[in-house]
Amino acid sequence: MKNKDSKKLIYMDHSATTPVDPRVAEIVSRTMLEQWGNPSSRYAKGNEAKLVLDGARQQVAGLLGADPGAIFFTSGGTEADNMAVIGTMMAAKKSGKGNHLITSDFEHSAISKSAQFLEEQGFRVTKLPVNPEGFVEPDRLIEAIRDDTALVNLMHVNNEIGTIQPISEFGAICRERGILFHTDAVQSFGKIPLDVSTMPLDLVSVSSHKIYGPKGIGALYIREGIEIEPRVYGGGQEDKVRTGTENMPGIAGFGEAVRICNELISTEQIELAELRNLLLESITESVKDDILINGSMESRLGANLNLSFPGIEGESLLLSLDIDGIAASSGSACSSGSTEPSPVLLALGLDKETAQSSIRLTLGRSNTREDILFVAERIGYHVNRLREFAF
Ligand SMILES: Cc1ncc(COP(=O)(O)O)c(C=O)c1O
Repeated sequence: MKNKDSKKLIYMDHSATTPVDPRVAEIVSRTMLEQWGNPSSRYAKGNEAKLVLDGARQQVAGLLGADPGAIFFTSGGTEADNMAVIGTMMAAKKSGKGNHLITSDFEHSAISKSAQFLEEQGFRVTKLPVNPEGFVEPDRLIEAIRDDTALVNLMHVNNEIGTIQPISEFGAICRERGILFHTDAVQSFGKIPLDVSTMPLDLVSVSSHKIYGPKGIGALYIREGIEIEPRVYGGGQEDKVRTGTENMPGIAGFGEAVRICNELISTEQIELAELRNLLLESITESVKDDILINGSMESRLGANLNLSFPGIEGESLLLSLDIDGIAASSGSACSSGSTEPSPVLLALGLDKETAQSSIRLTLGRSNTREDILFVAERIGYHVNRLREFAF
């Protein structure tokens, strides 16, 4: 089978990033070319930009059920995560509220590296294990809480295996004990409902480029009254929490991307789950031997599939798929030129070889039934061929 349109890219890596929606691109362009004022300026051109800023803040706040004043724009999910974890812990230490952070074994590096930085500064960090199904168990959290615990950080949807963590339960455990709770919602925001007016969440990190918005823009929700130490110093924008002239084109585009998600949120993941299930079924038919599904298929983002094909290298499969015009990613994180097995898959209990035989397919708005059948056929062809070479 050939990719019918040889120029067509079949993009199945929507958890890495998404193509910008043309409606978003139009707003970004308009903000750059027309509404280019500084929102802090007090004359008409500044006020025009301020209206754009306020509108986007309202859009982001609306999708989170938050007060617009609790939304702080950042340069993306990474900065929001850093601000939440480091800023909260620094402020807690200053006011004598404790220096112990609880997080998990399978967080994004924006969190795990922040935790490592804090440990180097003398803070105490406990990392909760993940069970083989891909969930942190609430009982493990209860056991880990200490008198000096200031913050619990547990992600909402895991970026590699798509499992949806019970964040309301985690948040309730924290709230009962007067401990702050941050969730990294970069992979869930705009896809599944998140409502800080009904869920016990204190801080929430979100990002624009995972939802068809521009790159380099995100936000942190901070519940009113929570103290965080700023990481950037300057003119005092964003209520001094994240100072610096706002990235107005990015913010306006993010607002538009959120508006579109708001329209689709009740149906999109259901439709993607149907395509994902068809993909899994078709791959199972086309691959001759073992396939392992990483992470539970219950309580999982509709768009995510993460599979191991024991006996082959995930990277070799991805290179072959790339030649076919298919973009997917491996369960491995590439660092300094060497391919390391994914820490997420290792945390689930996979051995190194099996972790390295994995690929992640994450579906999105452009994927069709025809794409799914083509991708499944190519995966079957390459896995069977690579396995023949391997044995
Ligand atoms: C779970 C999670 N957190 C944080 C980030 C970082 O977000 P950004 O790329 O906007 O810095 C990502 C991006 O892959 C992610 O998947």
